[in-house]
Amino acid sequence: MKTAVIGTGYVGLIQAVGLAHLGFKVIAYDIDISKINALKRGNPPIYEKGLKELLHQNRERLFFTTSVEDLKDSEVIFVCVGTPQDSQGKANLNFVFSAVENLKPLLMGKEIVVLKSTVPVGTNRKVQQLLGDKAFVVSNPEFLREGIAVEDFFNPERVVLGFSENHPEWVREKMFNLYRFFLKKNIPFVVTNWESAELIKYASNTFLAMKISFINELARLSEKVGADIKEIARGMGLDSRIGNKFLNAGIGWGGSCFPKDVSALIWQFKEWGIEPKLPKVTKEINDEQIPWFLNKIKKHYGGNLNGKTFALLGLAFKPYTDDLRESPSLKLAELLIQEGAFVKGYDYVEGTRENVKKLVELKASTRHSYGLIVYDDLNTAVKGVDGIIIAVEYKEWNRENWKEFSKLVRNKAIFDGRNILERILVKKLVKEGWHYEGVGVNI
Ligand code: UDX
Repeated sequence: MKTAVIGTGYVGLIQAVGLAHLGFKVIAYDIDISKINALKRGNPPIYEKGLKELLHQNRERLFFTTSVEDLKDSEVIFVCVGTPQDSQGKANLNFVFSAVENLKPLLMGKEIVVLKSTVPVGTNRKVQQLLGDKAFVVSNPEFLREGIAVEDFFNPERVVLGFSENHPEWVREKMFNLYRFFLKKNIPFVVTNWESAELIKYASNTFLAMKISFINELARLSEKVGADIKEIARGMGLDSRIGNKFLNAGIGWGGSCFPKDVSALIWQFKEWGIEPKLPKVTKEINDEQIPWFLNKIKKHYGGNLNGKTFALLGLAFKPYTDDLRESPSLKLAELLIQEGAFVKGYDYVEGTRENVKKLVELKASTRHSYGLIVYDDLNTAVKGVDGIIIAVEYKEWNRENWKEFSKLVRNKAIFDGRNILERILVKKLVKEGWHYEGVGVNI
């Protein structure tokens, strides 16, 4: 079966490489010439564990192109373009519709066009109207987590497929045949209509964001009353109806999906005349979380951060990715800088450090100075600082040489914005004279 992918971002590239690994011939199309050229040379434009190796292994089945005509004769075409937020917070569908418009003249009436992009309810129906009888539109939202996206592709917890009641039976059969690898692995399939498939994606992301916002709000109370949010999360999470995942309190959720999807769901409620209560509060709590954490830091320094220097550990929105979109760490850096502090950044992922360096250069060119410097060496980042701030939940921070850090820093203070340091280590550090502050914990 000949397949095609439109858009070689996180979703499209993983889909293309994954399908090729399952044995399908895949043509991956993007309008970005530099991305396609890099991919032709075997270099993925993003950092994702295992992606480069898989790209090499399957190169005889993978073709990259910037010419839309090359998509002709593909039987199943996956639309994987971005749906970023517009200025109001709605999903911007320009990329989706322009991809479909460009594809339309090539279609012969037998193709399946699969929307993998996260799209508001009603979009699959609109795309089908636009294509008329030139193709059959199927909704197939993705649930890949950055950093472990390749693993998630091969081991999804579910496959969601949304069809129209008017689709002929062979459309479903072809999609099941394409995804037979997952059927054989007994991965549950949710087969439903377009609208439910579209909402499953938004509901899942918003629900996860809501779990985090809930624990973050509770952390504020926990801290005040002498409780420990880590113990509370453990006590809650052992109830299988609640589950222990996405209950880590911290400086909030970021990334390419949660912020835009929560906002887009808020809009969908509004557009249908319903007040979006929980999604709205979920976002509000998250918006407050970084200023709340900054206040804790400020309090420790008597309310004034002017001239203070901080090591900011972790720069992307989560571990093992070089994606900086909506990174809580970078938002915190901005606020620290506004307070007159200097920030020395470090991240384990080289691509992240490089991306932040580029961003800093860009900012510096628009202002007189920008107080964030990225270091390639952790010890240098920590040297001479008034405090260490952990902004990304790498477990590796636990295994770092804190004895060495004691000698390097000017002032022994840790602000653990992800509650990632283990309790035994924290107790030891406190004994050795460190000031430690987490989120909702009492040491
Ligand atoms: C998310 C969804 O998990 C995935 O299914 C969807 O397809 C895309 O969006 P991703 O954006 O890669 O994936 O990040 P995720 O691992 O979900 O984390 C999102 C944010 O929440 C990160 O900033 C992370 O640090 C934060 N987080 C996560 C917490 O603050 N606490 C937690 O307990 C879990």
